[in-house]
Amino acid sequence: MAKLSLSTDKIRECVPQQELEALAPLMDACHAKLYDGSGKGNDFLGWVSLPSSIKSWELDDIARTAQNLQSMAEVVIVIGIGGSYLGAKAVLEALSDSFDSLKTVRTRPVVLFAGQNLSEDYMYELLQAVKDRSIATVVISKSGTTTEPAVAFRIIKEEIEFRYGKEGAAQRIVAVTDAAKGALRTLADREGYKTYVIPDNVGGRFSVLTPVGLLPLAVAGIDIRALVKGAQEMEKMTGKDVKYADNPAAQYAAARYALYQKGKKIEILASFEPKLQYIAEWWKQLYGESEGKENKGLFPASVVFTSDLHSMGQYIQQGERLFFETVVSVANAEHVVTLKHDEENLDQLNFLAGKRIGEVNRMAELGTMLAHVDGGVPNIKVEIERIDAEHIGMLLYFFEMACGISGYALDVNPFDQPGVEAYKKNMFALLNKPGYEEEGEALRRRL
Ligand code: PA5
Repeated sequence: MAKLSLSTDKIRECVPQQELEALAPLMDACHAKLYDGSGKGNDFLGWVSLPSSIKSWELDDIARTAQNLQSMAEVVIVIGIGGSYLGAKAVLEALSDSFDSLKTVRTRPVVLFAGQNLSEDYMYELLQAVKDRSIATVVISKSGTTTEPAVAFRIIKEEIEFRYGKEGAAQRIVAVTDAAKGALRTLADREGYKTYVIPDNVGGRFSVLTPVGLLPLAVAGIDIRALVKGAQEMEKMTGKDVKYADNPAAQYAAARYALYQKGKKIEILASFEPKLQYIAEWWKQLYGESEGKENKGLFPASVVFTSDLHSMGQYIQQGERLFFETVVSVANAEHVVTLKHDEENLDQLNFLAGKRIGEVNRMAELGTMLAHVDGGVPNIKVEIERIDAEHIGMLLYFFEMACGISGYALDVNPFDQPGVEAYKKNMFALLNKPGYEEEGEALRRRL
């Protein structure tokens, strides 16, 4: 069984243990709201029991579609943004060989992403990269109307139809969207694409364990059953009847809440494993969109150590004391690389002879933690045994559950994102979208 543990003892100088424990009733009450539906945004609580409600036949169906796409395309382009992109990207990065693209025999089918930006050069280069390869696409949008993926899909769809004809294209396009609403649903139904539904009660940033994340991951050859199993284990560990004392998600939520009350305004998610960089990107969306509203919320930032110790390390050690760190620690590396003894020892590293690089990394992690704590940066540790599908599934659900509790503790609706609309309105106005003429004029005068 996968294992995840939490330690908060290195926040004690800032938050004494009794103060943390005193938050138990609040955390339990917020946790209970996720189950009784009495909190804000209660029509978006489908993620809470999602892992345990996934049926085996659903996973089989996703696996069949993935195999079908793999069999007809060398490259599958996954189109989506925000919650319709980051989960799949994060898990894929975490579970892939860092140098897969250089291997003669790749360990995974090639999945590329589009629609997560509006960069013309990115799109041009993507089209160039796949011009001599067979392609298929998975287009993901819950609303079915988000501009970035819609723009990318228009271009990729045209390319697929040009190459394979309308009928061929219908075999190579899979849409993941709302059951009934949105332009993507209308188009998919009209063109006869295979579709998957994003449940109404699961918001984008909580949707990694729906087909939004599972289909692209299955296409990439990730063991989605193990991913779901890990999430199911964490669902049990943080379930309805699990009280604060045994609930790691409630304890994490309490620690970050207490630190926020003490004036820490930024949470830095740190890891010493570069493969977890996109897990941090996913986490930033999860917490940033869920909590950053009503002029409240911790600002979620991230670093990858030891790389960023040579860039952000100075600020973290001695800059403004605005933040605390949450380290996602990995107990065991998958592979063994040992430093050898060198007769000449010109690099003076013989004191490391016989040691694994992982041990050096571990000492860097422990040394950094103590240095940062000494520098006034409280430290929370979330440890997983290893980076595999089960542990990543566990970690994802852990952060989701903690986020739900945390959002309620902050007394915001953790499941909406009204602030995301502001830029969209301006963009449409500046692009002369019908209906936005007056706003367009007003904005142009300000530029
Ligand atoms: O969490 C969210 O709701 C957002 O990040 C959305 O996932 C993102 O805006 C993409 O939306 P959609 O899936 O509707 O295209």
